[in-house]
Amino acid sequence: MFVKNSWYCAGWDYELSQGKEALLTRRIAGEELVLYRKPDGSVVAMEDRCCHRQAPLSLGKKEGDALRCMYHGLKFGPDGKCVEIPGQENIPPQACVRTFPVVEKNNWIWVWMGDPEKADPDLICFSVGPGDRNWNIKTSKVRVNANYRLEIANLMDLSHVTWVHEHTFGGTDAYTYADAKHTLTKRGVNSKFWLRGVPAPVFAQHLFPQGALFDLRFDVEMTIPCNFVLHFQVWTPGSATDDGEPTGQMILDSYASQAITPRDEDSVDYYYAWGSSVATDGPGMSDMLHETITTAFIEDKEMLEAQHQRMKERPNKKMIEIVHDAAPGKLLWVLDKLLKDEASEAAQAPELAAS
Ligand code: FES
Ligand SMILES: [Fe+2]
Repeated sequence: MFVKNSWYCAGWDYELSQGKEALLTRRIAGEELVLYRKPDGSVVAMEDRCCHRQAPLSLGKKEGDALRCMYHGLKFGPDGKCVEIPGQENIPPQACVRTFPVVEKNNWIWVWMGDPEKADPDLICFSVGPGDRNWNIKTSKVRVNANYRLEIANLMDLSHVTWVHEHTFGGTDAYTYADAKHTLTKRGVNSKFWLRGVPAPVFAQHLFPQGALFDLRFDVEMTIPCNFVLHFQVWTPGSATDDGEPTGQMILDSYASQAITPRDEDSVDYYYAWGSSVATDGPGMSDMLHETITTAFIEDKEMLEAQHQRMKERPNKKMIEIVHDAAPGKLLWVLDKLLKDEASEAAQAPELAAS
């Protein structure tokens, strides 16, 4: 189940060039899309399905602003309306394909999958992209064959860092005792916490004397469908304060921005980035962060794909709850509320929901 009235990330802007062959295919929330750039640089997102005989338009070709189906040659403008049927003069009004609102923000391409009238760009999540000159951000992506609800549960539960990421972000079990403050927002949850007097994460321990301790600051904004933006800082020990600004010296200031787009019930496309501020960066630092996050996401991928398989085998098996399920439960609650709201709206106006 997917919330329709939401922006979904369709990838990094650099994945979609002005090239002749540059047609990007995406499966988003169960819909097949094709994306392309018009000569003016703006992006079009269309259903990847010709209205004549359902041939994929991604097998077609770009012609100026338009896209031509290469089966029988129907040509569609960027608004999805057919503008040419070779061999036929009359173009019926139903000769059109669905198009979706698109916005590019912070180097991500966002597609609105619901009612175009409700496509408010202010609903796109905050993030820090590679185009921001104050940050040295490196980007990547990975496919994970698991349901996006498992991704939400994974990201909202930082206790898994100790175990799944034993060889990357781990190095302390303090994550399992973190006293995070969670604040519900209209379309997500914000979480803040400090880990006080802990060793550096495993990936950075070799950079410091043995036994060195730090205060780690986490500030997370998570929004539906599954966007996770972490402001992560490393401070000298004793810097953490319950309220107000830290008192010591900041060693690393960084942003990790992650947009996880459900393709369908069994897979997601995960677009991620991490990097440090220019002020706290050094040669190779952001490269190391990027290498680490890439390795860590393979660790998550292995666990989530295996978990997804087990859950498919026994979907009704009773499971127990532990203290760390509380935070994931908050975002899943927000998601379920939005799903319910949409379902009741659809029940009241079925003809709109079906469009
Ligand atoms: S299927 Fe596209 S023109 Fe026939
Ligand atoms: Fe993880």
